[in-house]
Amino acid sequence: MTAAPLVDSFGRRHRDLRISLTDRCSLRCTYCMPAEGMPWLPSGTLLTLAETTRIAAVAVQHGIEEIRLTGGEPLLRPDVVQVVEALAGLPGSPEVSMTTNGLRLGGLAQGLKDAGLARLNVSLDTLSRERYQQLTRRDRLGQVLAGLVAADAAGFEGTKINTVLLRGVNEDEAPALLRFALERGYELRFIEQMPLDAGHTWTMEGMVRADKVQALLSEHFDLVPVPGRGSAPAERWSVDGTQSAVGIIASVTRPFCGACDRIRLTADGQLRSCLFAQEETDLRTLLRSGGTDEQISAALGLSVAQKAAGHAVGQAGFEQPGRGMSAIGG
Ligand code: 5AD
Ligand code: SF4
Repeated sequence: MTAAPLVDSFGRRHRDLRISLTDRCSLRCTYCMPAEGMPWLPSGTLLTLAETTRIAAVAVQHGIEEIRLTGGEPLLRPDVVQVVEALAGLPGSPEVSMTTNGLRLGGLAQGLKDAGLARLNVSLDTLSRERYQQLTRRDRLGQVLAGLVAADAAGFEGTKINTVLLRGVNEDEAPALLRFALERGYELRFIEQMPLDAGHTWTMEGMVRADKVQALLSEHFDLVPVPGRGSAPAERWSVDGTQSAVGIIASVTRPFCGACDRIRLTADGQLRSCLFAQEETDLRTLLRSGGTDEQISAALGLSVAQKAAGHAVGQAGFEQPGRGMSAIGG
């Protein structure tokens, strides 16, 4: 590392950069997007492969060790394999991973693996075709399942499944989803639904809380806490005395902001120090007006220096950020 580590005013050191490659998606998950009428980013505002790589290179010099590609749906980017290759090949060899809805893994898993992608997180909220269609507004469950098989065949290990449970929709499936993950050797993580949907429909009452998820699972499995969480968002439990674990990401009811080591770059080149930040730093304009690496470096340092202690979801005065999850990157 040649530049100063990204330490904020609370002493948190940042090692993880999430890059959204596009705000578009092939699904319309009800907790994320409305059925129609999403205001997509104009394509000219999306960072190019070269621009993304340049920002990432500076971030790696500042001690970023892990880069996670997200969306929207990152696999919709025509140059996604090249992006992976460029980032994984940066000096310092950051670990590059990806969060995807899995639909395009069938055709892309091997190319991604060969390009140096280290790990995959695949979003899957239900194993029922009807419910999948209801939840994502698309009839694509078979494609995700085929995508997972392709990822296994390509040699991906440690694949994780992300599940958002919704009250009265899929919460009864928690044990079945865990069984599915255990059988296939994936680690399942339940994510509390956050107020980050473009349609602003989130309510505390509609959310399935972490303690509820734990209770639902404990009826069927013996869960023992795994120590050593570090800066990971997930609390983990070993299942039935095995090496396999299940995680819960309780972003709302048990926030983990105190250990956060993440910063985010949106597809249109805005740096965000928090999912819930109201402020962004415009790296795209900086780059396109001839900005130097030193200026990118300074902007990164400033954004982190101004990072807030944490979010105030569920508290009076909480304001949902202007962009939704699909335009920020998970
Ligand atoms: N709250 C929690 N998780 C969400 N995701 C998308 N929107 C939300 C939300 N409002 C999840 C997706 C995917 C990951 C990127 O984040 O299901 O797994
Ligand atoms: Fe697409 Fe992910 Fe949003 Fe679902 S949650 S619509 S998969 S971006």
